[in-house]
Amino acid sequence: MAGKVVDAEYSKEIEKARRDLRALIASKSCAPIMLRLAWHDAGTYDAKTKTGGPDGSIRNEKELAHAANNGLKIAIDFCEVIKAKHPKITYADLYQRILDQLAGVVAVEVTGGPTIDFVPGRKDSPESPEEGRLPDAKQGASHLRDVFYRMGLSDKDIVALSGGHTLGRAHQDRSGFDGPWTKEPLKFDNSYFQELLKGDSEGLLKLRTDRVLVEDPEFRKYVVLYAEDEDAFFSDYAESHKKLSELGFTPP
Ligand code: HEM
Repeated sequence: MAGKVVDAEYSKEIEKARRDLRALIASKSCAPIMLRLAWHDAGTYDAKTKTGGPDGSIRNEKELAHAANNGLKIAIDFCEVIKAKHPKITYADLYQRILDQLAGVVAVEVTGGPTIDFVPGRKDSPESPEEGRLPDAKQGASHLRDVFYRMGLSDKDIVALSGGHTLGRAHQDRSGFDGPWTKEPLKFDNSYFQELLKGDSEGLLKLRTDRVLVEDPEFRKYVVLYAEDEDAFFSDYAESHKKLSELGFTPP
């Protein structure tokens, strides 16, 4: 019984944090870096050893210092503002609430109502995984598969989730790369896939890991589908997104 009361209170707190997150993301136009934070916290998951994953560990100094996480302190600090108002919420839930929020936005556009219910209860971990679990932008298809299959994700998840690059840009001083993937980097749409099929355009970035999505025949199928059918992208994205945010997580 007591546990149930705590659960209800916790869910209420999560709902309040959702509204605060939405307001923060709108006022700071920080959706892209917040999405990158949530993905980098979750994307270290190793299905075999059940280590890494969406456990808030990215905020540990050691993990934040991994080269792949350069620049993410900005997003961690934004989240601290929300955490200070809702101290009960775990960092792991808070970071993944960001993902769910964006997926929710996508789902609303597809169906006229949110179809994904965020399941809270992630625990924070003091342990950080070793460096090198996140994908390296300079490598090809087999590397992408190694990394995403390690998490227990599929080819379809790889392509759908890479559509996250419809938002934001690379920064010279963070990753050594520069520029946005699409002409409207604050709009979540399927233009990332359309740009991939068009090939190089002035001012737009393509990492090696983006290019392989059109070169590899298995990946390419999904790129073509998503470039033609935005609804298919949105619903697959929302599904893959939920998987990512629940890696290794068994609801309490
Ligand atoms: C940014 C690599 C997958 C979301 C970046 C940057 C790199 C990168 C190098 C630039 C960072 C900077 O300089 O600020 C990769 C590689 C991936 C991958 C190699 C392998 C597939 C993903 C996934 C998502 C994602 C799965 C989300 C679902 C983002 C976002 C940004 C970004 C939103 C922009 C951040 C900003 O504007 O500050 N990524 N990424 N990426 N990535 Fe990825």
